[in-house]
Amino acid sequence: MCGIVAYIGPRQAYPVLLKGLKRLEYRGYDSAGIALINDDNQLKVYKRKGKVAELEESLTGIPLAANIGIGHTRWATHGEPSDRNAHPHISQSGKIAMIHNGIIENYAQIKQELLNKGYRFHSDTDTEVLLNFIDDIREQNHCPLEEAVRIALKRVVGAYVIVLLDIENPDTLIAARKGSPLVIGIGKGEHFLASDASPILEYSKEVVYVNDYQVAIIKSDELILKNLGNERQTPFITKLDMDLAAIEKGGYDHFMIKEIFEQPTTVFDCLRGRLDAGLGLITLSGIEQNLETLTQARRIIIVACGTSWHAGLVGEYLIEELCRIPVEVEYASEFRYRNPVVGEGDVILAVSQSGETADTLVAIEKAKENGAFIYGIVNVVGSSIARVSHTGTYTHAGPEIGVASTKAFTAQLTVITLFALRLALAKGTISRERFLSLCNELSVIPDKIAQILDNAAAVEAIAQRYKDARDFLYLGRGNNFPIALEGALKLKEISYIHAEGYPAGEMKHGPIALVDDALPVVFVATKDAVHEKVVSNMQEIKARRGRVIAILTEGDDFTAQLCEAHIAIPETDELLTPLLSVIPMQLLAYYIGVAKDLDVDKPRNLAKSVTVE
Ligand code: G6P
Repeated sequence: MCGIVAYIGPRQAYPVLLKGLKRLEYRGYDSAGIALINDDNQLKVYKRKGKVAELEESLTGIPLAANIGIGHTRWATHGEPSDRNAHPHISQSGKIAMIHNGIIENYAQIKQELLNKGYRFHSDTDTEVLLNFIDDIREQNHCPLEEAVRIALKRVVGAYVIVLLDIENPDTLIAARKGSPLVIGIGKGEHFLASDASPILEYSKEVVYVNDYQVAIIKSDELILKNLGNERQTPFITKLDMDLAAIEKGGYDHFMIKEIFEQPTTVFDCLRGRLDAGLGLITLSGIEQNLETLTQARRIIIVACGTSWHAGLVGEYLIEELCRIPVEVEYASEFRYRNPVVGEGDVILAVSQSGETADTLVAIEKAKENGAFIYGIVNVVGSSIARVSHTGTYTHAGPEIGVASTKAFTAQLTVITLFALRLALAKGTISRERFLSLCNELSVIPDKIAQILDNAAAVEAIAQRYKDARDFLYLGRGNNFPIALEGALKLKEISYIHAEGYPAGEMKHGPIALVDDALPVVFVATKDAVHEKVVSNMQEIKARRGRVIAILTEGDDFTAQLCEAHIAIPETDELLTPLLSVIPMQLLAYYIGVAKDLDVDKPRNLAKSVTVE
């Protein structure tokens, strides 16, 4: 979703902006643009619908020398993707250019006031309204731009990061945030601004995460942060703990397949320092420091979106089984707009890769206000959800660039498993023997994931065979039901093939009507307590000439015979199966997407980090 970059300093701004926009492409966007104050002190804006590469090509031969500039990739909210709706926008006075990430909810009212004053608009965006509102305040009050920004933002309802370039102050950038992410990289006599750390990494490892309701006044060699009341606030400098290789493809064709293949390492990293299977110890500082609150929880509510929500569904099985605490799993977008019964005694697990998903963020803020305790399970260090949470555990999967989440999902499952085991031990709801056995099994999961990946070519062959299907059905039971949902979501996202995930037991209540000899049905049918039931469902599909593909436990030759195609995965404890069964699902979606020649890293219309509601 919208990406923001900006630069001020001795370097040429354009190459920095362009590279930054390319680094942010993974977030998903439909148009791109830049604004510069060039060496002749002119404010220039270049923007267009389409890819950053198309913007770059259109600028060939144009002189772009400048040491200050802003850049943007837009994901349409107000107004269709088009050249005129692309950012940066320029104010009616022609003096200020602005980029914006987020949504201004009361823009219609402000727009009407500006229309009454004679303002005219050249786009359908809420951004252009906010920009002219700020410019109008500056004109009326004869005040500095930073003051006009503060006054305007006090009236604004919604979420934003804005960065402004002002022809009257060609040595200063003004930025502000509420609800959307903004990172400032600190160089020697230069500053870099971006929506996340990836565009900054190659220039500086020292960053400041701007907080909600802060305005930043940025010169080459000075960074001032103020709140909306014009009080100065000390910037808190954080060291970035990642390197450039983590955000580059490293020899793989796509980020998605690189990230799928990283999973033995990312799961291992996630366990490192937390699980000592030999000693039978799990240490999660978020639990150790809040043992009483967590063991006394009357209920756990897992709040998340997309793939993270599926991780939450697996979490429900794990936590209820091991800790005997009732668990509810909520779509953040539904939870936040209900009037949920939530308060003291409730623990919210907020699961999010990006830590910036707007719905999840607002949902936990509300629950926090009502007295609930918030435990964040987040991948991006320093992100908004991590900061709003009372405590939590980072998933340590490293930057995930492919829009479809893969390694972040298995890292989330790993953290939730550790969480459930540790809490069960504290509550006394698990025997020492069972605890030790699960710890041992968890410690070898990275090797077992590696074994599945060694067999990726077999999944690729299956992908070739089924790539032209129009629809897919995914079925599973128990803790493999969420994996069926995740398999269907991955396929939809990457290949644009319609796919539905269902609990296998519900199949007879509707989806069976879809079954014919053209429908591939993917079963998660590993050896577990409900295996026989799943095999019966498979027979029912076969009887209706459906094409059965199954994920099976190694050595299950009987079930293999029932399938048109199958993928075998190593045996593990039933509770940990999702960590393995999801891997073939990811591979199948990836290889079908590639076989259809689609942009698997940046599927159409999707955004990596959904920072608007
Ligand atoms: C978007 C992404 C998904 C992700 C979901 C939740 O839809 O495309 O891959 O699962 O947001 O994101 P989060 O960062 O909160 O896990």
